Order: sequence, then structure tokens, then C-alpha cells
Amino acid sequence: MQLLDGKYVSEKLKVEIAEEAAKILQKTGRQPHLVAVLVGHDGGSETYVASKMKNCEKVGFKSTLVRYEDDVTEDELLKKVEELNADADIDGIIVQLPLPKHIDPEKVTERIDHRKDVDGFHPVNLGRMQRNLPSFIPATPYGITLMLKEYGIDTVGKHCVVVGRSNIVGSPMSILMARNTTPGNCTVTICHSRTPDIKSITLQADILIVAIGKKNFITADMVKDGVVVVDVGMNRETSALTKSGYKLYGDVDFENVAPKSSWITPVPGGVGLMTIIGLLKNTLASANKEVY
Ligand code: GUN
Repeated sequence: MQLLDGKYVSEKLKVEIAEEAAKILQKTGRQPHLVAVLVGHDGGSETYVASKMKNCEKVGFKSTLVRYEDDVTEDELLKKVEELNADADIDGIIVQLPLPKHIDPEKVTERIDHRKDVDGFHPVNLGRMQRNLPSFIPATPYGITLMLKEYGIDTVGKHCVVVGRSNIVGSPMSILMARNTTPGNCTVTICHSRTPDIKSITLQADILIVAIGKKNFITADMVKDGVVVVDVGMNRETSALTKSGYKLYGDVDFENVAPKSSWITPVPGGVGLMTIIGLLKNTLASANKEVY
């Protein structure tokens, strides 16, 4: 078993991103600029957004956090998005999900100018991705492809099983792995909550990507020997034993699945760190006008 080490790959790619940002600053006199909009005080969202902002500083990007309380109206939020769309100093806009129930996330996502949609959630970017055209690719799937590439994982003709069909991970991941790209060219099966006998399918996986949001969902009896496992799970449990007050668990029973795997991502220290890289690379591409 070998680790797909998110810490190692993300640190290496951050050096490259910082070099690119420095070039942009030298050439244009400005830094790539990411704006994050955060509504409310969800613990996970607070952590993720803080990490996104911190990593922007680390690589020499400008970052701005726009905060609202839970009671912000949908109209207020949409107006803010339009204001950010029109601001020529901004390269990337993300609105952290989930949003409170009275706000339609689809409406907000579609209001973001697709040319600044560095989350890659806008239908224009998803459609362009599916057609293999230049687009912003959702950060977590993008980060996973960068990790597979870094370790030279051969995906051509392999059976990739994606567990989970979310807009953020499972669905775009399945498109990327089926595309004629590197990594890609897989035969892809998507499993979800309505799939009967998931085990019979995961047992066929050469590459297993799990984004279902359930601790220890994938157990050792559900994988074959030599499988490549990518665990997207970020299940937080409160713990008095850690400084942050919580402990993070993946969707895969790492201890028992790892011995059967050829490659596997740890949690923490795997995919989570790569998500940030996907976001930074999209923001860089926007600042360089590489996509639009
Ligand atoms: N919530 C969970 N993951 C993400 C992400 O990648 N982007 C945004 N905006 N919200 C999220």
C-alpha cells in the first residue's frame, strides 16, 4: 500500500502556484483576487473558508471574505453577487455552500458570472467540462485529478466506481474520469443511496472514489485487492482530544481497507488539501484569462 499524500502534493503545487502569482504581479502590477461569500456560522464552512483565505495569502493572492448573518435575504445576496461580477479587480467568486434554507443555491450559483465561477458549479462550466472545452473544474474533483496525475496512476480502460452523486463531487468526478483526458478514459459507474447492493459494484472497482458523507461506509469486504482508493469524506465528530475540538473521519475504513489497496488517500491529509489547490489553480487561470 502506498499513500496518495495530499500534504506532499499540495505543498509542491503551492510553490508552483506562488511562482505563477509572482509572475502575474510583475507583469500586471496586480495579484490574483478571490472573493469568498460566507453566510451564517456553520462549523465546517467556517473552517473551509478560513483555510481558503489563508492559502490565498500563502501563494500571494489577494483574498476578500464577505460575511452575512443567516437572515440575509436571497435578494441581498444576489445583489452582492452582481456587484462582485461587475468589479474588474476580482478574478474569482465563491459562495460557500450550504446556504440557509430560504436561499435557493441554484439561483445564487447561476447568478455568478461563469467567467468568475472558480468553483466550477455554474451550468456553463459544467456543460463545457462535459464537452472537454476549457472551463473551471469543480475544486475537489480537479484536486483529485491533480493527485492521480502526480502519482502517475494509470486510469486508461480501468473501471472507476464513484460512490455519491452530489453536484460538488460525485457527479463532476464521474464526468472527468470518463472523459478522454489524463487522468480519465475510465469506464465509470456511479453508485448512490438508491443503488441496491453497492458492494457488488464496489468490488469491481479498479479505482474507487467515495464521496457519500458517511464514516466508515466502505469496509474491507467491499474492495478487491490492488484497488486505488480516493476518500473524499470529511465527517466531523466532536472530540475533547484534539485542539480544534473535533476529529475528522473519511468515508472509508482506512485501517482495514488500506492493506488491500495499491494506493489510498488518508483523512485528514488527502483530498481535503487538494480541494484548495483546485480552487487556487482556477483562480490563477481566471487571472491569466486562460479559460475565458
Ligand atoms: N461546500 C462544500 N464544498 C464546497 C466547495 O467546493 N465550494 C463551495 N462554494 N462550497 C462548498
